[in-house]
Amino acid sequence: MTEPNHPPIIRELPDVLISQIAAGEVVERPASVVRELLDNALDAGAKQITLRLLGGGIRLIAVEDDGCGIPAPQLPIALKRHATSKIVSLEDLESVATMGFRGEALAAMNSVSEMSLLSRVEGAPSAFLLEGQTGEIRPAARAVGTTVEVKELFFSTPARRHFLKSENTELAHCMEAVRRHALARPEVSFAVWHEGKILEQWRSHPGEVGWNQRLADVLGEDFVTSSVNIDFRSGPVHVRGRAGTPDAARARADQQFAYVNGRFVRDKVITHGARSAYEDVLHGHRQPVYVLYLQMDPARVDVNVHPTKIEVRFRDSREVHQAMRHAIESALAVPRAQSISSSQALEQAAADTNTSNALRLTPSPNAPQMQRSWSQRGMSFETQRRNDDSAQALSDLKALWGEPPKVEEQANYFSSNGASSTAEASTSAPSTIQPSPETHEWPLGRAIAQLQGVYILAENSQGLVVVDMHAAHERIVYERLKQQLDTTQISSQPLLIPSAFAATPHEIATAESCTEVLAQLGLEISALSAKTLAVRAVPTSLAQGDAVELARSVLAELAQHDAATVVQRAQNEILATMACHGAVRANRKLTLDEMNALLRQMEATDRSDQCNHGRPTWRQVSMRELDALFLRGR
Ligand SMILES: Nc1ncnc2c1ncn2[C@@H]1O[C@H](COP(=O)(O)OP(=O)(O)OP(=O)(O)O)[C@@H](O)[C@H]1O
Ligand SMILES: [Mg+2]
Repeated sequence: MTEPNHPPIIRELPDVLISQIAAGEVVERPASVVRELLDNALDAGAKQITLRLLGGGIRLIAVEDDGCGIPAPQLPIALKRHATSKIVSLEDLESVATMGFRGEALAAMNSVSEMSLLSRVEGAPSAFLLEGQTGEIRPAARAVGTTVEVKELFFSTPARRHFLKSENTELAHCMEAVRRHALARPEVSFAVWHEGKILEQWRSHPGEVGWNQRLADVLGEDFVTSSVNIDFRSGPVHVRGRAGTPDAARARADQQFAYVNGRFVRDKVITHGARSAYEDVLHGHRQPVYVLYLQMDPARVDVNVHPTKIEVRFRDSREVHQAMRHAIESALAVPRAQSISSSQALEQAAADTNTSNALRLTPSPNAPQMQRSWSQRGMSFETQRRNDDSAQALSDLKALWGEPPKVEEQANYFSSNGASSTAEASTSAPSTIQPSPETHEWPLGRAIAQLQGVYILAENSQGLVVVDMHAAHERIVYERLKQQLDTTQISSQPLLIPSAFAATPHEIATAESCTEVLAQLGLEISALSAKTLAVRAVPTSLAQGDAVELARSVLAELAQHDAATVVQRAQNEILATMACHGAVRANRKLTLDEMNALLRQMEATDRSDQCNHGRPTWRQVSMRELDALFLRGR
């Protein structure tokens, strides 16, 4: 027997249930409670925050602050949904400077835990305690500030409690939330206790020193010593902070902290911008490390797009991407050797290139071919270069640089091709200043020998410097080519017989809308029919490759990224291959003068600490390390 098909009855949910459902968005686990309570304490102007946890935060999270407090009559209101002191209108939301603005967090916690608020404001006769369950208020003892206790999270919603992980895992998540806040606010002291034992204590120190100290406290000394300072303005975006050098990169992306107007965010635009800054110097899938603070007019970013506020939406994501990329890129460009004693190095480089029988930079056309795949650096040009490309690449190099200069011209040749500051130094001081080698300290030292045709050994004040000569020279050639290409176009070669291929509507649309960009890349691709594209010209250096494959991968890139990024990446990729062919080969004998010239060029070349594939180009072996090898006490 079948029942008649009555529609189900629509009922209003009870308030408690409404709150519990809404709470699911804000409070997912103990770490979410920690995040919200720390936000509140910081919004209240706290300078000292203490966090006490039991059972990984599942049994208790208590946050104590010395902020402004909550007046007794307002305590019950603070626990209500949609009750906030932080905004009053929609316009306020557009310029919100506080972490909180929804008036949801305390209400959400109150609906899924046993909660209490203890607070005292300046001038009040005592503190007051509010029990969240009963709504009862009574006087209590406490200095000015607030203590929020959240006990037995999800006790009333066992299904959700089951989703929690082990106490250790939840504790780790809580600690991550504290780290994010601690890195954002070095002027605030933090202490964390678990099960009655102190886990972390980060004191505040004033100014820049305090900020570096906080980075070291939270991320370790290594983070500070192996990162560079960033302070970069790009249009309306100001990026400050520190970015790790390529060799500080990690297997996991667990040290990437980005803040927008003081708020920790996980954002694709930011991550991608940072990642692209490392493209040229980072090996394979290594993850860069950074702590970066982006400041911009709050009206340029919408913070009200995600229940936990971890995502934001930028009015102009392109400007944020550019700012991130350029901020990191420009800071990383300065090689370590240069930052040690840049002025000294440049001065000497000028004098040196004027006197030495400098290294010939144009490669020998008989150099053995080095195979290299386009995808090696994570790019989407899958074309494997053929052997006969190398001759072309070499002639391209010559076209860019001209024939190697005569010995007497080499000084000029070096300086005009080298870093601009070198050029200035050399023209202003042709051969007058020549510090004696003994009195001058080079960051990368004086060459003493060549090892097995692969390494240059040099001596500096700290000990031994070992340089991978091919890797180092490759970078120098590459950077030089990039500089030149800023003003020249990639040369293009028409195909005798255009290569036609069946294309998707998407590919055809991209090809038609990007003719100019394609031309910049030396490519000419046009539609033959509604379903066919023809490649009519390719970059000269890739003339021997698979034109269709090249066209497809470039179109795919163009569809995904903005044109400027694609042009830059493709150019860099082509140049990197050319540089690889152009760099000195292993097993080539170099004179001491040639070796010294290479060292001086490294000191003056951007990004010279890494080769084009992200491997280091040089290492320092200190006297201490050498002594240790020989068990020699000093
Ligand atoms: N530690 C604190 N010190 C002083 N006032 C506080 C503190 N915590 C909460 N409050 C007050 O209680 C109100 C409600 O806090 P709640 O966290 O629920 O909302 P919010 O911070 O305004 O917004 P959001 O839901 O986005 O966090 C706050 O607006 C603030 O006035
Ligand atoms: Mg809040």
